Amino acid sequence: MINNSSPQDWPEPIIRVQSLSQTCIDSIPPRYIKPLNDRPSTNSLFESTNIPIIDLRGLYSIDPNEKASTFKKISEACNEWGFFQIVNHGVSHDLMDLAKETWRQFFHLPMEVKQEYSNSPKTYEGYGSRLGVKKGAILDWSDYYYLHYLPLSLKDYNKWPSLPPSCREVFDEYGKELVKLCGRLMKVLSINLGLEEDYLQSAFGGEDIGACIRVNFYPKCPQPELTLGLSSHSDPGGMTILLPDDEVNGLQVRKNDNWITVKPLRNAFIVNIGDQIQVLSNAIYKSVEHRVLVNSHKERVSLAFFYNPKSDIPIEPAKELVKPETPALYPAMTFDEYRLFIRMRGPCGKSQVESLKSPR
Ligand code: OGA
Ligand code: NI
Repeated sequence: MINNSSPQDWPEPIIRVQSLSQTCIDSIPPRYIKPLNDRPSTNSLFESTNIPIIDLRGLYSIDPNEKASTFKKISEACNEWGFFQIVNHGVSHDLMDLAKETWRQFFHLPMEVKQEYSNSPKTYEGYGSRLGVKKGAILDWSDYYYLHYLPLSLKDYNKWPSLPPSCREVFDEYGKELVKLCGRLMKVLSINLGLEEDYLQSAFGGEDIGACIRVNFYPKCPQPELTLGLSSHSDPGGMTILLPDDEVNGLQVRKNDNWITVKPLRNAFIVNIGDQIQVLSNAIYKSVEHRVLVNSHKERVSLAFFYNPKSDIPIEPAKELVKPETPALYPAMTFDEYRLFIRMRGPCGKSQVESLKSPR
């Protein structure tokens, strides 16, 4: 099922979507045209629906009712949506703006400079324009930059852009703050699941967790109705903290059979549950499918910070949550084994975590 080696190179020459965006004035190449069923659809019924918005200040309230209701809102959001926005999260708004602006500048550097950081499917680190290595695959309308932040053994400044000059320093600071934020959220999730507050963090490997960032760059697209910026997928890791572009919508989250467009609040982060927390929680928390639409009038930049288990420890449903009436839904698997799938096949809905389900 899962092949154990990643290929060294992409199956076809890489074309930067940013370059296509400049040369394809009226129409996009066939490689980017999605099958009819995958194309963006709008359902005006859900125009005013948004994912839950949660004020994290409530977690530390001296009012016990407010505190309890904040925990409950997070619990319901993880169970019913797999997605929520957080405000008063403790990360400096200036740092958030600076991080986004710095990466936007990177994508506006001359192509020759960016090409020096071109990535390969072996580790995905660097400047990339496709996920998955299937020859002839229909591609997404985006470029990205992918980097490891933790563990320290994988952090390699040579892979980080040297321009803009502040890039390394800004991302170091941003990563530090986001690791802290994730640590706090892991405690809340553990408590909400009825586990010890350190349960999830320990299951992730304690101090040895992994963290990476993918900066997504979605150039303007002349035919946004035919393609996607990022195809439907669930995030394979533990938990994702997304800093969206608050000037351009694009992210859609699946709710039953509908796609809900996220309306980002300024200075908020979007949190979503990844497949590993779905497994650890025995599917009490959901890793939900999402995708990104593009548009013809404005580019979009987003920073996805992935907080992951240590890559070589087995992840399986918490024993406390496995009962006769709720048997374990998933076998144990390490994150190293697990993520090979998305790295080979590219984004494809929730097919992986679902395919792991033990026969009942
Ligand atoms: C991702 C992702 C959403 C976005 O990078 O996994 O889902 O809005 N990004 O860019
Ligand atoms: Ni995602």
